[in-house]
Amino acid sequence: MNKNIIGGVVTAIDIGTTKIVVVIARLDSYGRTEILGIGHHPSHGLKKGVIVNIGVTVDSIKAALKEAQAMAGIKVEAACVGISGGHIQSLNSTGVVAIKGRDVGQDDIDRVIEAAKAVPLAKDQYILHVLPQYFRVDGQEYILDSLGMYGVRLEAQVHIITGAVASAQNIIKACELSGVRVSDVVLEQLASAAAVLTPAEQEMGTGILDIGGGTCDFAIYKDGRIRHSKVLPIAGNHFTNDIAVGLQIPFNKAEELKKLHGSVLRPTMHDLQNCYVDVPLGFDEGIKTIALSSMVEIINFRAEEILDLFLEEINTYRLRALMPCGLVLTGGGSLLPGMKELAQEMLDMPVRVGYPQTFHEDLSYSLPDILKSPIYSTVYGLLVHASGERGFGEISGNSDALFSRVLKRMKSWVYDLF
Ligand SMILES: Nc1ncnc2c1ncn2[C@@H]1O[C@H](COP(=O)(O)OP(=O)(O)OP(=O)(O)O)[C@@H](O)[C@H]1O
Ligand SMILES: [Mg+2]
Repeated sequence: MNKNIIGGVVTAIDIGTTKIVVVIARLDSYGRTEILGIGHHPSHGLKKGVIVNIGVTVDSIKAALKEAQAMAGIKVEAACVGISGGHIQSLNSTGVVAIKGRDVGQDDIDRVIEAAKAVPLAKDQYILHVLPQYFRVDGQEYILDSLGMYGVRLEAQVHIITGAVASAQNIIKACELSGVRVSDVVLEQLASAAAVLTPAEQEMGTGILDIGGGTCDFAIYKDGRIRHSKVLPIAGNHFTNDIAVGLQIPFNKAEELKKLHGSVLRPTMHDLQNCYVDVPLGFDEGIKTIALSSMVEIINFRAEEILDLFLEEINTYRLRALMPCGLVLTGGGSLLPGMKELAQEMLDMPVRVGYPQTFHEDLSYSLPDILKSPIYSTVYGLLVHASGERGFGEISGNSDALFSRVLKRMKSWVYDLF
């Protein structure tokens, strides 16, 4: 039974660095689905994807929840939430067990996954996800499903994602204080990938880069399995900050300017030679005239830095061969004109901008127009994940019990799929 679905209702909350979004949907017993409510509120309590002010975050969650609940006409009990931040780490690990010359059973698969999970962890870290990649039975490699195969030795390669205990605890606490319990916690790029990568892209090998406000969340899928993941704690807010500092204007004015006139298109810099805009600095502080070419230059510098870091990751871990279909950009930062072209040029691979789409045959969400933006990829992916999964454990009780159960669940939810 899917514990994300309560009375036919499923809820997803994306606690982002710049905005909090709540989406409530109803699933009927025939698998038909309908989005009932959407709530959106600016987020001010996070830095680089991590909660740094719980009181302010709770206020934002409550406001977004209130809006979504009013639209849906129901009160939400539990929600599936996303997690990100610089504390997220990942590694590939291998486990081996003996099967002594018989068919591989489910218990052997459980044992080999358990063996692969035995990795040294820092005290403040916990295992967020364990995602099976391949199995090997005796000499035979790259087996996607080992159940029922004959052999004497079973190996599993898994992708392990870890996170800081305190960060997850703060997410759970913020939701509880907002009046909603957490039914699942999911790494944000896994959710975004579910929303924007086509099944064919996941099969053939494609990267996803969610450029948010505080973090760039990266993952690669091949053979339908995750192969690599990374969170870079640098994203859209850094562009805005650079503009604010570089042009000496307030952050909110820099943000407005970036969204209205921002671009990383190189020809635009030339075209903008004689373009100026007047920025009112606020009450009694007059107006500042800004050369758009200066702003574009600042944005270009930061965009190249982000893509350089990303290129370094690709080269260090030799990931290019895993991405024959290239890269899909999503998140608010992908809306910056020219980002796609710059990524294509610097990474030397095909790049597209990913919008949330419905790929899942068993789910028939018709996406409301408002959700058809890269800034909603994570929340839509969380909703797809929460609606589609089966066999989740009960999560209830006080905070400590809830937290330990969530941790237990987080260790195994993807494993449940295989
Ligand atoms: N049209 C636009 N042009 C340029 N940048 C944009 C545009 N729309 C949004 N952004 C930028 O996208 C960023 C927000 O993206 P998003 O909503 O995906 O982030 P988030 O989910 O709140 O943060 P994170 O996932 O990093 O915690 C902001 O920096 C914002 O300025
Ligand atoms: Mg985000």
